[in-house]
Amino acid sequence: MSTASSIESVLTEHRVFPVPEDFQAQASIAGLAQYQALVNEADTDYTAYWAKLAREKLQWTTGFTQTLDDTKAPFYKWFADGELNVSENCLDKHLGTPTEHKTALIFEADDGVVTKLSFRQLYHQVCQFANGLTALGYKVGDRALIYMPMSVQAVVAMQACARLGVTHSVVFGGFSSKSLHERAVDVGASLIITADEQRRGGRSIALKPAVDEAIALGGCDAVRHVIVYARTGAEQAWHDGRDIWWDAVVDGQAMECAPVAVNAEHPLFVLYTSGSTGKPKGVQHSSAGYLLGALLSVQWTFDAKDDDVFWCTADIGWITGHTFITYGPLAAGLTQVVFEGVPTYPNAGRFWEMIQRHQVSIFYTAPTAIRSLTKAAENTPECHPRHYNLSSLRLLGSVGEPINPEAWMWYYENVGLERCPIVDTWWQTETGGHVITPLPGVTPLKPGSCGFAFPGMDVAIVDEAGEEVERGKGGFLVIRKPWPNMIRNIWGDPERFVKSYFPAELNGYYLAGDGAQRDQDGYFWVMGRIDDVLNVSGHRMGTMEVESALVAHELVTEAAVVGRPDATTGEAVVAFVVLSGDVPAGDEAKRIATELRNWVAKEIGPIAKPKEIRFGENLPKTRSGKIMRRLLRFVANGEAITQDVSTLENPAILEQLSDAY
Ligand code: WTA
Repeated sequence: MSTASSIESVLTEHRVFPVPEDFQAQASIAGLAQYQALVNEADTDYTAYWAKLAREKLQWTTGFTQTLDDTKAPFYKWFADGELNVSENCLDKHLGTPTEHKTALIFEADDGVVTKLSFRQLYHQVCQFANGLTALGYKVGDRALIYMPMSVQAVVAMQACARLGVTHSVVFGGFSSKSLHERAVDVGASLIITADEQRRGGRSIALKPAVDEAIALGGCDAVRHVIVYARTGAEQAWHDGRDIWWDAVVDGQAMECAPVAVNAEHPLFVLYTSGSTGKPKGVQHSSAGYLLGALLSVQWTFDAKDDDVFWCTADIGWITGHTFITYGPLAAGLTQVVFEGVPTYPNAGRFWEMIQRHQVSIFYTAPTAIRSLTKAAENTPECHPRHYNLSSLRLLGSVGEPINPEAWMWYYENVGLERCPIVDTWWQTETGGHVITPLPGVTPLKPGSCGFAFPGMDVAIVDEAGEEVERGKGGFLVIRKPWPNMIRNIWGDPERFVKSYFPAELNGYYLAGDGAQRDQDGYFWVMGRIDDVLNVSGHRMGTMEVESALVAHELVTEAAVVGRPDATTGEAVVAFVVLSGDVPAGDEAKRIATELRNWVAKEIGPIAKPKEIRFGENLPKTRSGKIMRRLLRFVANGEAITQDVSTLENPAILEQLSDAY
């Protein structure tokens, strides 16, 4: 981890965009006074603030009497004697209201075919699938692994699990069978829900075969069924007795299914994310607290209104897809777009065309997408957003990595046409919902800053001793008080949970793992990770995960992975590799680099492929044998190393690695 003082400010941005008056006039939190009132309420009586919201926003089967149980901190419990069902709060609650017949999902397939479902229709699909799961013997406490394309069925599968109290763990469809296997074993899945294939950018990508491979790796003895949704109808190898088609599961099932009330703390899902070690962390979320945070984020940050059409472009395999597709928008009764494909197919105007076609009013995407579409609009001018009617938009959002001011300005001018506020939302898999974000009816915007704390969140920037640093100084981003939708545990590893997030020096504060600073106006500026976690295209990955994958290859004896700033993907993976044989050169080096890149794609997934691989006969190490990744970062960036390297065991290696490319 870096030291707090090494987190430098990169702040040069002075533009401020005021809150549009008409926006403020209609906003759910309208103006600074209203924001301040909420902040004061939370300050005055923290638990009363959250208790009131939990009672107001959620439907309880059994009301809670205790708001926060901190007796086993940092294993906090919220609303612990209450009971509810999350799916009931997303679907049943709208029955008998005007929302019942409103469109819940507008699903657009890769090939452009559109399917719409009302809340009532979605409710029936969820009930039928849940009944099918019950018939197969699944019940509260079981774990289901979901490995699916973006689809109506993926939302149905997650909601059906929630309905029964089956804890789901969604694995991104771009992960390899190895990654899938690791997660299935760790979470102890007894059920896997998948599809035959997924369609992206006009191509079919197999999913079910990866599940077969994962199970064949062994250790998944708990898995009793693999449910397969036929997306393309591709021929499948079939394991009788274990594999079952989606249609057979729902066939003949009743259209109603009573939701199973679970304890507020019941794990709704476990979602794996990267940390500083080679092993992904199973982030365990609760039911009630998580849902409260998801709903508030939709209502407050996105200012959701009944006639909005919401579109979050994230995949359901990430937390953003959980909170802003499967749970938040449904709980808020919003119409939303769900998209199967990629932003560049059939051309780079796809997002803009879809906004126009579906009259999207709130659009939430990632900086990496904005940067690549900016580039595409230059290269293929016919795909520039100006050729589309984007007048339905009223609010834009950004998430996943720091957005650089140039990308912010392009988004603001070309997509939002200088009318739409941009909410740059900072949060994490572990936080469940927004933590620092502008509120569109409250916060004047500074490009590149994520504004202020979400009402009720106690965010600060501190030094190594947990002391708050002065304005303008860099430090660690922490959350000082527990909050309802926080991570509850790392699945099966409570020790790692405490060690990773609540280090003893920091007074019991939650350590986010990001470096940040606040400017003189109190705006937060997030600088990026302080640990060995990379952020490539908004995807979190641990350098250790990529290193472990590399050294698992028979030719590799040692590997060190660092990030390098990249104009499109934010960061790019650069790997320094020592082979068991000689240092390769020329075509030989190219051939082995390609082989290793493909190997990493197979071990983890294509998102983890190193952009560049450099070979050396050694790695820069201290005399105690520690790899100096900091120096490698300079090398990867082609920067001169100014610091003293005489303490290195092998200073000459730096030159070799710098020349290696
Ligand atoms: C980064 C995604 C700057 C950050 C929701 C965080 C951001 C990590 C922003 C979490 C933002 C996310 N500005 N950085 N608006 N949003 N990050 O768990 O480093 O996939 O710690 O959750 O992404 O990534 P995760």
